Amino acid sequence: MVEFSASILNCDFTRLGEEIKAAEEAGVNAFHLDVMDGHFVPNISFGPPVTKHIRTLTRLPLRAHLMISDPVKYAPDFAETGADEILYHIEVADEETLPKLLELGKPIGVTLNPDTDLRSIYPILPQLSQVLLMSVFPGFGGQKFIPKTLFRISNLRREIEMQKLSVPISVDGGVNPDTAEGVREAGADILIVGSALFSSDDYAGVVRAVKGE
Ligand code: DX5
Ligand code: ZN
Repeated sequence: MVEFSASILNCDFTRLGEEIKAAEEAGVNAFHLDVMDGHFVPNISFGPPVTKHIRTLTRLPLRAHLMISDPVKYAPDFAETGADEILYHIEVADEETLPKLLELGKPIGVTLNPDTDLRSIYPILPQLSQVLLMSVFPGFGGQKFIPKTLFRISNLRREIEMQKLSVPISVDGGVNPDTAEGVREAGADILIVGSALFSSDDYAGVVRAVKGE
């Protein structure tokens, strides 16, 4: 059974409360907050004030996907405003990053861009709450799923099993009712869906189709 995490990046922000409620009623399991700094990625989205607002709208888990150059500096603000889990990018990390983030006392997951070597995270796998594989280059919603991600999911799944761990694998970018089956079969646990959900007129149908129900 996979989990459906809703990326609100492309929801209707003029009706944020209604969108969150509708997604919840459709059966999503968590919300994915795409934080962009205009530096690590060529786009700016939202930050802690919006996170704080969303926290008042739902009890579902809030996961902050920090597409920012300095996660150690800003992660505490997201933890304080209500994020339950912090996802940083391995491309901006040094050996201090994970230990410092773990000091927050929250689950910490790592994210990899489509062209980042999977082996770069094998040594830290036991400390992680999840691994997020990007299936598009981060920065924008509504992009096309990169098919080679499927091999990356199954390779990572094999390594997690070899290390006798149960770290969940998340997949983010271009996931929709058409691409979801391959993602599930490759061994992903959490499917993150943005535009395919919020551009639909049948949120519950999208949730069911993506989960394969
Ligand atoms: C990309 C973001 C994703 C993305 C998901 O930079 O991290 O979360 O917006 O949205 P869709 O499902 O539209 O690709
Ligand atoms: Zn994301």
